[in-house]
Amino acid sequence: MKKHIALLRGDGIGPEIVDSAVEVLKAVAVKFGHEFTFTPYLIGGSAIDACGKPLPEETVEGCLAADSVLLGAVGGPKWDTLPGHLRPEKALLGIRSAMGLFTNLRPAKLYPALKEECPLRPDIVEKGFDIMIVRELTGGIYFGERGYREGKYGEEAYDTEAYSRMEIERIVRVAFETARKRRKKLTSIDKANVLETSRLWRKIVHEIAAEYPDVEVADMLVDNAAMQLVRNPAQFDTIVTSNMFGDILSDEASQITGSIGMLPSASLNDGTKGLYEPIHGSAPDIAGQNKANPIATILSAAMLLLYAFDMKAESDCIVNAVDKVLNAGLRTADLCRVGAPLTCTEMTQKVIENL
Ligand code: IPM
Ligand code: MN
Repeated sequence: MKKHIALLRGDGIGPEIVDSAVEVLKAVAVKFGHEFTFTPYLIGGSAIDACGKPLPEETVEGCLAADSVLLGAVGGPKWDTLPGHLRPEKALLGIRSAMGLFTNLRPAKLYPALKEECPLRPDIVEKGFDIMIVRELTGGIYFGERGYREGKYGEEAYDTEAYSRMEIERIVRVAFETARKRRKKLTSIDKANVLETSRLWRKIVHEIAAEYPDVEVADMLVDNAAMQLVRNPAQFDTIVTSNMFGDILSDEASQITGSIGMLPSASLNDGTKGLYEPIHGSAPDIAGQNKANPIATILSAAMLLLYAFDMKAESDCIVNAVDKVLNAGLRTADLCRVGAPLTCTEMTQKVIENL
Protein backbone atom coordinates (compact mmCIF):
# COMPACT_ATOMS: atom_id res chain seq x y z
CA MET A 1 0.00 0.00 0.00
CA LYS A 2 1.06 3.58 -0.69
CA LYS A 3 0.17 6.07 2.03
CA HIS A 4 0.97 9.68 2.65
CA ILE A 5 1.33 10.97 6.20
CA ALA A 6 1.42 14.64 7.22
CA LEU A 7 3.81 15.33 10.09
CA LEU A 8 3.15 18.05 12.63
CA ARG A 9 6.34 17.94 14.67
CA GLY A 10 5.54 21.04 16.69
CA ASP A 11 7.58 22.35 19.60
CA GLY A 12 9.74 21.20 22.50
CA ILE A 13 10.27 17.44 22.34
CA GLY A 14 7.74 17.24 19.46
CA PRO A 15 10.35 16.99 16.67
CA GLU A 16 12.37 14.29 18.49
CA ILE A 17 9.43 12.02 19.24
CA VAL A 18 7.85 12.42 15.79
CA ASP A 19 11.20 11.61 14.16
CA SER A 20 11.34 8.48 16.32
CA ALA A 21 7.88 7.35 15.28
CA VAL A 22 8.72 8.05 11.61
CA GLU A 23 11.80 5.81 11.88
CA VAL A 24 9.59 3.06 13.27
CA LEU A 25 6.99 3.58 10.51
CA LYS A 26 9.74 3.42 7.86
CA ALA A 27 10.98 0.13 9.31
CA VAL A 28 7.42 -1.25 9.33
CA ALA A 29 6.98 -0.18 5.69
CA VAL A 30 10.10 -2.10 4.69
CA LYS A 31 9.08 -5.16 6.67
CA PHE A 32 5.54 -5.31 5.23
CA GLY A 33 6.24 -3.98 1.73
CA HIS A 34 4.40 -0.66 2.02
CA GLU A 35 5.39 2.74 0.79
CA PHE A 36 4.89 5.54 3.32
CA THR A 37 5.74 9.11 2.38
CA PHE A 38 5.92 11.99 4.84
CA THR A 39 5.54 15.76 4.54
CA PRO A 40 6.23 18.01 7.53
CA TYR A 41 4.06 21.07 8.18
CA LEU A 42 4.51 23.85 10.70
CA ILE A 43 2.30 24.08 13.78
CA GLY A 44 2.41 25.81 17.16
CA GLY A 45 5.27 27.96 18.38
CA SER A 46 7.57 26.98 15.53
CA ALA A 47 4.90 28.19 13.07
CA ILE A 48 4.55 31.45 15.02
CA ASP A 49 8.31 31.97 14.74
CA ALA A 50 8.36 31.15 11.03
CA CYS A 51 5.26 32.94 9.78
CA GLY A 52 3.57 34.75 12.65
CA LYS A 53 0.64 32.39 13.17
CA PRO A 54 0.25 29.10 15.01
CA LEU A 55 -1.77 27.29 12.33
CA PRO A 56 -0.85 28.34 8.77
CA GLU A 57 -3.36 27.52 5.97
CA GLU A 58 -0.84 25.22 4.25
CA THR A 59 -0.79 23.11 7.38
CA VAL A 60 -4.56 22.69 7.42
CA GLU A 61 -4.63 21.96 3.67
CA GLY A 62 -1.74 19.50 3.96
CA CYS A 63 -3.45 17.61 6.79
CA LEU A 64 -6.77 17.47 4.94
CA ALA A 65 -5.06 16.18 1.80
CA ALA A 66 -2.93 13.52 3.54
CA ASP A 67 -4.08 9.97 4.29
CA SER A 68 -3.33 10.56 7.95
CA VAL A 69 -1.59 12.92 10.37
CA LEU A 70 0.99 12.33 13.09
CA LEU A 71 1.55 15.09 15.63
CA GLY A 72 4.17 15.61 18.34
CA ALA A 73 3.29 18.42 20.76
CA VAL A 74 2.95 22.18 20.80
CA GLY A 75 3.72 25.00 23.20
CA GLY A 76 6.52 26.31 25.37
CA PRO A 77 7.46 29.18 27.68
CA LYS A 78 8.62 31.30 24.74
CA TRP A 79 5.03 31.72 23.54
CA ASP A 80 3.26 31.70 26.92
CA THR A 81 2.65 35.43 27.06
CA LEU A 82 0.98 35.73 23.64
CA PRO A 83 -2.75 36.52 23.59
CA GLY A 84 -5.01 33.45 23.60
CA HIS A 85 -5.83 33.41 19.88
CA LEU A 86 -2.13 33.42 18.95
CA ARG A 87 -0.94 30.75 21.36
CA PRO A 88 0.48 27.46 20.05
CA GLU A 89 -2.31 25.52 21.83
CA LYS A 90 -4.86 27.36 19.70
CA ALA A 91 -3.35 25.62 16.66
CA LEU A 92 -4.00 22.22 18.16
CA LEU A 93 -7.62 23.10 18.86
CA GLY A 94 -7.78 24.63 15.38
CA ILE A 95 -6.56 21.57 13.50
CA ARG A 96 -8.86 19.28 15.53
CA SER A 97 -11.76 21.52 14.62
CA ALA A 98 -10.75 21.94 10.94
CA MET A 99 -10.53 18.16 10.53
CA GLY A 100 -13.76 17.58 12.49
CA LEU A 101 -11.97 15.30 14.98
CA PHE A 102 -14.69 15.06 17.61
CA THR A 103 -13.58 11.70 19.00
CA ASN A 104 -10.41 11.31 21.02
CA LEU A 105 -9.48 7.77 22.06
CA ARG A 106 -6.97 7.60 24.90
CA PRO A 107 -6.14 4.07 25.99
CA ALA A 108 -4.53 3.73 29.42
CA LYS A 109 -3.38 0.28 30.44
CA LEU A 110 -0.92 -1.00 32.96
CA TYR A 111 1.96 -2.86 31.31
CA PRO A 112 3.02 -5.78 33.54
CA ALA A 113 6.64 -4.65 33.03
CA LEU A 114 5.83 -1.22 34.47
CA LYS A 115 4.03 -2.38 37.62
CA GLU A 116 6.91 -1.09 39.70
CA GLU A 117 6.45 2.39 38.26
CA CYS A 118 2.76 2.59 39.14
CA PRO A 119 2.41 4.92 42.15
CA LEU A 120 -0.58 2.99 43.54
CA ARG A 121 -0.68 0.47 46.41
CA PRO A 122 0.51 -3.07 45.49
CA ASP A 123 -2.95 -4.66 45.98
CA ILE A 124 -4.43 -2.16 43.49
CA VAL A 125 -1.55 -2.64 41.05
CA GLU A 126 -2.03 -6.42 41.26
CA LYS A 127 -5.52 -6.12 39.77
CA GLY A 128 -4.16 -4.12 36.81
CA PHE A 129 -6.30 -1.94 34.56
CA ASP A 130 -7.09 -1.43 30.91
CA ILE A 131 -9.16 1.69 30.28
CA MET A 132 -10.27 3.41 27.08
CA ILE A 133 -11.07 7.07 27.61
CA VAL A 134 -13.37 8.44 24.91
CA ARG A 135 -12.96 12.20 25.14
CA GLU A 136 -15.18 14.63 23.22
CA LEU A 137 -12.67 16.80 21.35
CA THR A 138 -14.27 19.64 19.41
CA GLY A 139 -16.86 21.06 21.79
CA GLY A 140 -17.38 22.24 25.33
CA ILE A 141 -15.52 24.94 27.18
CA TYR A 142 -12.35 24.72 25.05
CA PHE A 143 -14.40 25.97 22.10
CA GLY A 144 -17.07 28.05 23.85
CA GLU A 145 -17.51 31.77 23.91
CA ARG A 146 -14.86 33.52 25.96
CA GLY A 147 -13.61 36.94 26.72
CA TYR A 148 -12.99 39.76 29.14
CA ARG A 149 -15.63 42.09 30.51
CA GLU A 150 -16.33 44.48 33.31
CA GLY A 151 -17.93 42.44 36.07
CA LYS A 152 -19.35 43.07 39.52
CA TYR A 153 -15.83 43.28 40.99
CA GLY A 154 -14.18 44.99 38.02
CA GLU A 155 -12.02 43.14 35.50
CA GLU A 156 -13.42 39.70 34.78
CA ALA A 157 -12.69 36.85 32.37
CA TYR A 158 -15.12 34.15 31.31
CA ASP A 159 -15.24 30.90 29.34
CA THR A 160 -18.44 29.09 28.53
CA GLU A 161 -19.27 25.40 28.31
CA ALA A 162 -21.93 24.56 25.72
CA TYR A 163 -22.88 21.21 24.24
CA SER A 164 -25.51 20.56 21.60
CA ARG A 165 -27.57 17.38 21.45
CA MET A 166 -25.86 16.51 18.16
CA GLU A 167 -22.37 16.81 19.68
CA ILE A 168 -23.29 14.67 22.66
CA GLU A 169 -25.16 12.03 20.67
CA ARG A 170 -22.33 11.36 18.25
CA ILE A 171 -19.61 10.99 20.90
CA VAL A 172 -21.85 8.86 23.12
CA ARG A 173 -22.58 6.53 20.15
CA VAL A 174 -18.84 6.18 19.48
CA ALA A 175 -18.37 5.31 23.15
CA PHE A 176 -21.08 2.64 23.16
CA GLU A 177 -19.63 1.12 19.98
CA THR A 178 -16.18 1.19 21.58
CA ALA A 179 -17.43 -0.43 24.78
CA ARG A 180 -19.22 -3.10 22.73
CA LYS A 181 -15.88 -4.16 21.22
CA ARG A 182 -14.24 -4.23 24.66
CA ARG A 183 -15.59 -5.49 28.00
CA LYS A 184 -19.05 -3.96 27.40
CA LYS A 185 -18.94 -1.59 30.33
CA LEU A 186 -19.34 2.15 29.85
CA THR A 187 -18.90 4.84 32.51
CA SER A 188 -20.16 8.27 31.53
CA ILE A 189 -18.45 10.98 33.55
CA ASP A 190 -20.11 14.34 34.15
CA LYS A 191 -20.92 16.93 36.79
CA ALA A 192 -24.70 16.62 36.53
CA ASN A 193 -25.21 17.76 40.13
CA VAL A 194 -24.06 21.24 39.07
CA LEU A 195 -23.82 21.74 35.30
CA GLU A 196 -26.71 22.01 32.87
CA THR A 197 -24.52 20.68 30.02
CA SER A 198 -23.89 17.57 32.13
CA ARG A 199 -27.61 17.08 32.74
CA LEU A 200 -28.25 17.10 28.98
CA TRP A 201 -25.25 14.79 28.54
CA ARG A 202 -26.63 12.33 31.10
CA LYS A 203 -30.13 12.40 29.60
CA ILE A 204 -28.75 11.56 26.16
CA VAL A 205 -26.54 8.77 27.53
CA HIS A 206 -29.65 7.16 29.04
CA GLU A 207 -31.60 7.53 25.80
CA ILE A 208 -28.87 5.96 23.68
CA ALA A 209 -28.31 3.22 26.26
CA ALA A 210 -31.62 1.71 25.13
CA GLU A 211 -29.98 0.97 21.75
CA TYR A 212 -27.17 -0.94 23.46
CA PRO A 213 -28.79 -3.37 25.90
CA ASP A 214 -25.63 -5.52 25.84
CA VAL A 215 -23.52 -2.67 27.28
CA GLU A 216 -23.66 -1.99 31.01
CA VAL A 217 -23.69 1.76 31.58
CA ALA A 218 -23.23 3.85 34.70
CA ASP A 219 -22.96 7.60 35.40
CA MET A 220 -20.23 8.95 37.62
CA LEU A 221 -19.54 12.47 38.83
CA VAL A 222 -16.16 13.75 37.74
CA ASP A 223 -14.85 14.48 41.23
CA ASN A 224 -15.69 10.94 42.28
CA ALA A 225 -14.15 9.60 39.05
CA ALA A 226 -10.87 11.37 39.81
CA MET A 227 -10.84 9.55 43.13
CA GLN A 228 -11.98 6.17 41.76
CA LEU A 229 -9.19 6.23 39.17
CA VAL A 230 -6.61 5.96 41.93
CA ARG A 231 -8.72 3.94 44.38
CA ASN A 232 -9.87 1.19 42.01
CA PRO A 233 -8.94 1.72 38.35
CA ALA A 234 -9.80 -1.91 37.51
CA GLN A 235 -13.51 -1.02 37.74
CA PHE A 236 -13.29 0.99 34.48
CA ASP A 237 -13.52 -0.36 30.96
CA THR A 238 -14.66 2.42 28.60
CA ILE A 239 -15.10 5.98 29.83
CA VAL A 240 -16.93 8.70 27.91
CA THR A 241 -16.67 12.33 28.93
CA SER A 242 -16.52 15.94 27.82
CA ASN A 243 -13.52 17.73 26.37
CA MET A 244 -12.22 19.28 29.60
CA PHE A 245 -12.96 16.37 31.93
CA GLY A 246 -11.34 14.00 29.41
CA ASP A 247 -8.27 16.20 29.20
CA ILE A 248 -7.79 16.16 32.96
CA LEU A 249 -8.72 12.53 33.65
CA SER A 250 -6.46 11.22 30.87
CA ASP A 251 -3.43 12.86 32.45
CA GLU A 252 -4.37 11.23 35.75
CA ALA A 253 -4.85 7.87 34.02
CA SER A 254 -1.49 8.19 32.30
CA GLN A 255 0.35 8.67 35.57
CA ILE A 256 -0.96 5.40 37.01
CA THR A 257 0.42 3.59 33.93
CA GLY A 258 3.83 4.66 35.19
CA SER A 259 4.53 7.67 33.01
CA ILE A 260 2.73 10.24 30.94
CA GLY A 261 5.29 9.30 28.29
CA MET A 262 3.37 6.08 27.58
CA LEU A 263 -0.08 7.21 26.41
CA PRO A 264 -0.94 7.43 22.71
CA SER A 265 -4.13 8.84 21.29
CA ALA A 266 -6.25 8.82 18.17
CA SER A 267 -8.43 11.77 17.20
CA LEU A 268 -11.07 10.77 14.68
CA ASN A 269 -13.86 12.27 12.62
CA ASP A 270 -16.82 10.22 11.47
CA GLY A 271 -14.87 8.69 8.60
CA THR A 272 -11.51 7.05 8.83
CA LYS A 273 -9.40 10.18 8.75
CA GLY A 274 -7.65 11.12 11.91
CA LEU A 275 -4.79 12.69 13.73
CA TYR A 276 -2.56 10.69 16.02
CA GLU A 277 -0.60 12.16 18.90
CA PRO A 278 0.81 11.35 22.32
CA ILE A 279 -1.34 12.77 25.14
CA HIS A 280 1.63 14.49 26.75
CA GLY A 281 2.86 17.98 26.04
CA SER A 282 6.03 19.46 24.60
CA ALA A 283 8.14 19.09 27.79
CA PRO A 284 10.27 22.20 27.12
CA ASP A 285 12.50 21.37 30.11
CA ILE A 286 13.98 18.35 28.32
CA ALA A 287 13.59 19.52 24.70
CA GLY A 288 16.54 18.97 22.40
CA GLN A 289 18.34 16.77 24.93
CA ASN A 290 17.45 13.39 23.42
CA LYS A 291 15.90 12.38 26.77
CA ALA A 292 12.22 12.12 25.85
CA ASN A 293 10.31 8.87 25.95
CA PRO A 294 9.22 8.24 22.34
CA ILE A 295 6.86 5.36 23.22
CA ALA A 296 3.62 7.37 23.38
CA THR A 297 4.29 8.69 19.87
CA ILE A 298 5.42 5.28 18.58
CA LEU A 299 2.20 3.78 19.97
CA SER A 300 0.26 6.65 18.36
CA ALA A 301 1.82 5.56 15.04
CA ALA A 302 0.57 2.03 15.83
CA MET A 303 -2.94 3.43 16.36
CA LEU A 304 -2.58 5.30 13.05
CA LEU A 305 -1.78 2.07 11.19
CA LEU A 306 -4.75 0.32 12.77
CA TYR A 307 -7.43 3.01 12.54
CA ALA A 308 -6.39 4.96 9.43
CA PHE A 309 -4.93 2.22 7.22
CA ASP A 310 -6.61 -0.89 8.65
CA MET A 311 -3.16 -2.48 9.04
CA LYS A 312 -3.71 -4.69 12.07
CA ALA A 313 -0.64 -6.91 11.67
CA GLU A 314 1.60 -3.88 11.19
CA SER A 315 0.08 -2.12 14.19
CA ASP A 316 0.40 -5.23 16.39
CA CYS A 317 4.00 -5.56 15.30
CA ILE A 318 4.80 -2.15 16.83
CA VAL A 319 2.79 -2.83 19.99
CA ASN A 320 4.55 -6.17 20.47
CA ALA A 321 7.96 -4.58 19.91
CA VAL A 322 7.20 -2.01 22.63
CA ASP A 323 6.12 -4.86 24.93
CA LYS A 324 9.37 -6.69 24.31
CA VAL A 325 11.50 -3.64 24.93
CA LEU A 326 9.71 -2.90 28.21
CA ASN A 327 9.87 -6.56 29.27
CA ALA A 328 13.62 -6.47 28.63
CA GLY A 329 13.82 -3.71 31.25
CA LEU A 330 14.78 -0.96 28.81
CA ARG A 331 13.71 2.46 30.08
CA THR A 332 13.97 6.13 29.16
CA ALA A 333 14.62 8.63 31.94
CA ASP A 334 10.95 9.15 32.88
CA LEU A 335 10.67 5.45 33.81
CA CYS A 336 14.18 4.73 34.99
CA ARG A 337 14.97 4.67 38.69
CA VAL A 338 18.09 2.48 38.62
CA GLY A 339 20.93 2.38 36.13
CA ALA A 340 21.47 4.59 33.12
CA PRO A 341 18.38 5.45 31.07
CA LEU A 342 18.22 5.03 27.29
CA THR A 343 18.09 8.15 25.16
CA CYS A 344 15.16 8.82 22.87
CA THR A 345 17.07 7.61 19.81
CA GLU A 346 18.39 4.51 21.63
CA MET A 347 14.86 3.57 22.72
CA THR A 348 13.65 4.06 19.14
CA GLN A 349 16.44 1.79 17.86
CA LYS A 350 15.49 -0.89 20.40
CA VAL A 351 11.87 -0.81 19.28
CA ILE A 352 12.95 -1.11 15.62
CA GLU A 353 15.24 -4.05 16.42
CA ASN A 354 12.26 -5.81 18.03
CA LEU A 355 9.77 -5.30 15.21
C1 IPM B 1 -4.05 17.50 25.23
C2 IPM B 1 -3.47 18.86 25.52
C3 IPM B 1 -4.26 19.89 24.74
C4 IPM B 1 -5.71 19.76 25.16
C5 IPM B 1 -3.78 21.33 24.89
C6 IPM B 1 -2.31 21.47 24.58
C7 IPM B 1 -4.59 22.28 24.06
O1 IPM B 1 -3.49 19.12 26.87
O2 IPM B 1 -4.03 17.08 24.07
O3 IPM B 1 -4.48 16.83 26.17
O4 IPM B 1 -6.10 20.35 26.17
O5 IPM B 1 -6.45 19.08 24.49
MN1 MN C 1 -4.02 17.41 28.09
